[in-house]
Amino acid sequence: MAEILRLENIRKSYPSPDGDSLVILSSVNLSLNDGETVSVIGRSGSGKSTLLAVAALLSQPDSGDILYRGESILALDDKRKAEMRQKNLGFIFQSSLLLADFSALENTAMPLMISGMRKREAFERASEILDTLGLKERKNHRPSALSGGERQRTSVARALVTSPDIVFADEPTGALDEKSAAEVEEMLLDAVRKGGHSMLLVTHNPDFASRADRVLTLSGGTLHE
Ligand SMILES: Nc1ncnc2c1ncn2[C@@H]1O[C@H](COP(=O)(O)OP(=O)(O)O)[C@@H](O)[C@H]1O
Ligand SMILES: [Mg+2]
Repeated sequence: MAEILRLENIRKSYPSPDGDSLVILSSVNLSLNDGETVSVIGRSGSGKSTLLAVAALLSQPDSGDILYRGESILALDDKRKAEMRQKNLGFIFQSSLLLADFSALENTAMPLMISGMRKREAFERASEILDTLGLKERKNHRPSALSGGERQRTSVARALVTSPDIVFADEPTGALDEKSAAEVEEMLLDAVRKGGHSMLLVTHNPDFASRADRVLTLSGGTLHE
């Protein structure tokens, strides 16, 4: 299987209040294949969100390299990185970050329209993916009129609607009750696999984590099988 993303010796630190630096990731190595789902577990504060942000080009590491289909992408300028995030990557966070004044349909169609797709086609695609996520009857609701699980399913739709190569999900069900978390987990994994996307998933839930193709543990600043 072809490798789509590779992290090599990633080091990331934050400045600490006493002037030193706090090393969060000391040497992270990771390989993600086309269509593969990999979950990352680890205790709170171990650096999971930091790792995801670095891998998704949202945060610059101190050193190390990131290869996308064999090519280093860390040195791309901000504009190219933004383009790459828009075209090739999808994001789901613990809280949905949907725009409050727009319906589920509009929120889902937004990334397509930002990429220049015409409204009619964008709405058609958004509508289809919302249907597959069980939101057929909820498309015209604003986020405030949706349950937590419905909001997260809308976030899944918004992340997948552009057909990204890689989906980055940081505790996507972490704020949900058990029942809606289970629903969202099921639908997310199903949609990611059907769509042929790769996924890097951070979760607290060991059951959810174990349903990925591989589970890695982050501790002491490195990833372990
Ligand atoms: N912007 C930041 N500045 C300073 N420290 C940070 C910053 N972001 C995260 N940290 C620290 O880095 C560590 C790892 O955080 P995080 O990646 O959010 O862990 P996790 O997602 O595993 O809970 C924590 O100790 C956190 O306080
Ligand atoms: Mg986190």
